[in-house]
Amino acid sequence: MEFISHSVLETASFAKDFLEKLADRGKASSATVVGLYGNLGAGKTTFTQCLAKELGIMETITSPTFVIEKIYPLKHSPSTVFPQGCSTTSPQSSPQFKLPFTQLIHIDAYRLEKGAELAVLGFEKLLNDPKNLILIEWPERVADIMPKDHFRLKFEFVDENTRIMELEN
Ligand SMILES: Nc1ncnc2c1ncn2[C@@H]1O[C@H](COP(=O)(O)OP(=O)(O)O)[C@@H](O)[C@H]1O
Ligand SMILES: [Mg+2]
Repeated sequence: MEFISHSVLETASFAKDFLEKLADRGKASSATVVGLYGNLGAGKTTFTQCLAKELGIMETITSPTFVIEKIYPLKHSPSTVFPQGCSTTSPQSSPQFKLPFTQLIHIDAYRLEKGAELAVLGFEKLLNDPKNLILIEWPERVADIMPKDHFRLKFEFVDENTRIMELEN
């Protein structure tokens, strides 16, 4: 599935479509892990920001390059995506779909050299909880601890406003 995004808004729509794909993962026995592949500036953090917004996270999502890992609790549990997107969510609008997650975890492995460095941050425990949605930038750096069945999302820079996004597996 390849998607050409011409703006951050289109990236947001791709993020929403991606979330919808996760809606039937209700019976998963461990966390949903998404590897965000692609060079600097390809849109990995922007995608995460868009996805967080769809999940109703109001906090500003900043790149966790220096803190490595950030955890955002989801307001609606189970998490709920509304038709108009989170910013215009009103209590009256009925949810478009529900997701099994209660936390979004955003990891930037750019400064890491191996999975063991994530292990000390309690990664195993996060992995064991099916209510966790874990997005990892630079998953190549911690390839040894990426679950085999993780979603692989590839990001490619085309020009100033254009990005290609592709979901593999
Ligand atoms: N279509 C698009 N989709 C996503 N980001 C875009 C797009 N067009 C321009 N951009 C810009 O590209 C930059 C991507 O940076 P960022 O998401 O931090 O990349 P990465 O995390 O992959 O290093 C942002 O400044 C964003 O506004
Ligand atoms: Mg980034």
